[in-house]
Amino acid sequence: SQDPRNEGKRLSALKALEFVEDGSIVGVGTGSTVAFFIEGLADMKSRIKGAVSSSEQSTRLLEKAGIEVFDLNHAGTLPLYVDGADECDPHGRLIKGGGGALTREKIIAAASRRFVCIVDPSKEVDVLGRFPLPIEVIPMARSYVAREIVARGGQPVWRDGFTTDNGNVILDVHNWSITDPVALERELNQLAGVVCVGLFAARAADVVIVGANVRQG
Ligand code: A5P
Repeated sequence: SQDPRNEGKRLSALKALEFVEDGSIVGVGTGSTVAFFIEGLADMKSRIKGAVSSSEQSTRLLEKAGIEVFDLNHAGTLPLYVDGADECDPHGRLIKGGGGALTREKIIAAASRRFVCIVDPSKEVDVLGRFPLPIEVIPMARSYVAREIVARGGQPVWRDGFTTDNGNVILDVHNWSITDPVALERELNQLAGVVCVGLFAARAADVVIVGANVRQG
């Protein structure tokens, strides 16, 4: 397409293919950058056993590419998880969930030995929070969690009309400058009704690929 960021997305996605181990099951994230990764993975599918998918969207792409999709419960610890992000700081800490797949993404990231994050340069920030922070919430807790966020200085906006793959809702929190992402992730995780916070800070990316540029964490 015409989007100038596509070249950076494609370059980072192709670079990530170099981290794929022969015979392995690959953890696969969600989004337009990952779509390029799946395209590349399709070309080397005879070398891998298959994939674990973080979303219905990626499952469809993987199956269309002829890559077998495994249940995470049957895949054990994955050597590699490859996913995009909405924002990335210099420590590999991320905001994710723009596509709403954050919970499954965080589970697969946790179950993987190495998390390789693929982004174009527009995603890089010094301090997280320019991109609204997605939080997946049990539907009945939506207003309660929103009030708790307001009390902490954020501006939650309900992603109206959107339901996650897990049947929950998303609050996108605007105007939070996240100076301590590890502490905020921990604090928000304590709120009743919060399923997943789109901060990937306690478990940050191990490797960030920005365009063709690989940064080891
Ligand atoms: C999906 O829930 C997100 O975490 C994606 O990883 C993120 O939105 C990146 O998507 P793009 O690669 O389309 O920018």
